[in-house]
Amino acid sequence: MAKVETVLFGFFGSKARIAPKYPKPIHDTIIEPFAGAAGYACLYPHKQVILYEKDEIIAGVLDFLIKSEPEDIMNLPLIPPDKNVDDYDLCQEAKWAIGYWMASAKQNPNKRLSKWATEKREWPNLTMNFWGTDCRIRLAKTVAKIGHWKVYHESWENSERHNDTPATWFIDPPYIKEGKWYRKSNKFINYDDLGEWCQTRNGQTIVCESKGAEWLPFEDLCELKGIGKGRKRSTEVIWTRNS
Ligand SMILES: C[S@@+](CC[C@H](N)C(=O)[O-])C[C@H]1O[C@@H](n2cnc3c(N)ncnc32)[C@H](O)[C@@H]1O
Repeated sequence: MAKVETVLFGFFGSKARIAPKYPKPIHDTIIEPFAGAAGYACLYPHKQVILYEKDEIIAGVLDFLIKSEPEDIMNLPLIPPDKNVDDYDLCQEAKWAIGYWMASAKQNPNKRLSKWATEKREWPNLTMNFWGTDCRIRLAKTVAKIGHWKVYHESWENSERHNDTPATWFIDPPYIKEGKWYRKSNKFINYDDLGEWCQTRNGQTIVCESKGAEWLPFEDLCELKGIGKGRKRSTEVIWTRNS
């Protein structure tokens, strides 16, 4: 698996690890109508990146990171295992941004470091997956590359306003079967409407799902090893087209 150098936050369903497996963007602009941690755009941070995200916490963190300077990130505190983010005088978005690094691949930010964080290394020299010295440096380097990105705290349909000019559309919604864990979950999405909309994008379209989804004629992309206890394997699928 490629080493991930630009990463905003650890997130359930993030494409950071497998972003190199998707087709490369052929346009100057990348649009992610379901942003999450924007793992695909992170592989091409120099592009014009436009993000849409319905969840206010995620949109808030994205906006905070886009507007931060590297020194702002380096000034964020490292939180020892016996403290929590509320012990520090920080804006809410900074607490959330740190909180996503307090445990691995979560839907929601944590307040305290998970016990796995100090399993392999001693605080504050934690692995990159947890909020420690290395992770903070990588995040500072990341924000240095994304100041020109734009995020809208709006639903995917509103990204229609960018369809005049050809762009690379990376469309990664909550999955029709597994996407119930997000606060803005699959139950609010009409996949027939979304499928039709995906076929009317101007430019390059890349749509993500997992095996079994039928709202577009998806093809296998790669196998994924799950995270956590069961480590269930899954097959990621893709629908792509250039118009
Ligand atoms: C599968 S995740 C995206 C993961 C992302 N590609 C990454 O690499 O981290 C789906 C995201 O869509 C967001 N979402 C759900 N409903 C939405 C909507 N109606 N409009 C925009 N975003 C939505 C969720 O909050 C979640 O962050």
